[in-house]
Amino acid sequence: MLSHIPIADIRARKVIDSRGNFTVEATVDLEYSTGICSSPSGASTGATEMQAFPKGGPDESIKFFEKNLKNKLIGFNSLDQQGLDTLIRELDGSEYLSNLGGNMATAISVANAKAVAQALDIPLYRYVGGMFSRSLPKPMGNVIGGGRHSRNGTTIQEFLVSTQGKTFMESAYLNTRVHRRIGELLSDKLKGVSVGVGDERAWTASIDDLEAVEIIKQATKELSNEHKVKILMGVDFAATEFFKDGKYHYKKEVKSRDQQIDFAASFTNELGFYFNEDPIEDTDFEGFAEVTKKVGKKGVIVGDDIYTTNPKRLKKGIELKSTSGILIKVNQIGTLSSTVETVKLATEAGMSRTVSHRSGETTDDFIAHLSVAFGAEFIKTGTIGGERLAKLNELIRIEEDFL
Ligand code: PGA
Ligand code: ZN
Repeated sequence: MLSHIPIADIRARKVIDSRGNFTVEATVDLEYSTGICSSPSGASTGATEMQAFPKGGPDESIKFFEKNLKNKLIGFNSLDQQGLDTLIRELDGSEYLSNLGGNMATAISVANAKAVAQALDIPLYRYVGGMFSRSLPKPMGNVIGGGRHSRNGTTIQEFLVSTQGKTFMESAYLNTRVHRRIGELLSDKLKGVSVGVGDERAWTASIDDLEAVEIIKQATKELSNEHKVKILMGVDFAATEFFKDGKYHYKKEVKSRDQQIDFAASFTNELGFYFNEDPIEDTDFEGFAEVTKKVGKKGVIVGDDIYTTNPKRLKKGIELKSTSGILIKVNQIGTLSSTVETVKLATEAGMSRTVSHRSGETTDDFIAHLSVAFGAEFIKTGTIGGERLAKLNELIRIEEDFL
């Protein structure tokens, strides 16, 4: 029986991400297979997520790997993913992976799983998800953006759409049509002046949040009628980013905590946004719970920065009924094993799962596989742009396995 495949070699390098910054990539060689993984980076990072890089950046991360991990990982049994991930954490020796960097830990962890999947001659989603994984997520892509992802956009970080088509391909394609239509509507409204694109290829313009709501409503209605398909709307407030001195600071007004709770709930209850992420700053678990209660089954309140894919934080959120959904980003927690632990907790609690990209992405497609492995309701990974399409097009390929 196959129970031991030692790691033959591991190499680490710098590669360039979609923002033009360096990130890290790892290659794991087994006897007859290889896995490569590069990690993305966030801009609106949660306070409790792993530190992406040590203080000295990607170079320092690689140095630490060469000196303290490489020789100890070579020879380790690649089939023992949990053991490998525990060893990576031990060798780093810090709570937030601040010596090795969460991005390097992620790259090694996922590259190892990819190498094993290739050795077993099965797709990564099947290796991680097991024999029963066969549901595909729906694509959730941002069409208008602001916050930390652009200079002149809306206060709310992301306005999103998710076409509920019969196939993944149809849904992903129609999301791009909505994106295009929104570009036209924005150009008409602003006569082409200062319409740009943000880090994740969503349109950015000097409009306020409620103007963005009107535009996204119009575009989804048009495309939905034309193609006779349901198109869900979503938002990611990324509320921590504009929370200061106990208040929420929008372009033209300041909201108290109670006003923010009502405003956030109204996005789902009155404006019809099904997906509603990080509507409250990330330390206020009770505030989240109030929004979740007000919204009930009308939509899903999704926790990103509040949980940072951390099982301990999620446990607290489950106890306090803070959210009905969770965003999953591997490099927030640093290893595949910890990510799986969080996903299991969320699944057992009946929470909706969304596997997500980061604003600074690479062309790696591993999150496409994880979205299937985790039975995610959505994959949030933009609508256009090569680094986003790497994931969407991989899901188009995976879909062929299930047809
Ligand atoms: P980030 O943002 O990748 O910049 O952290 C994405 C998000 O908040 O969902
Ligand atoms: Zn978010």
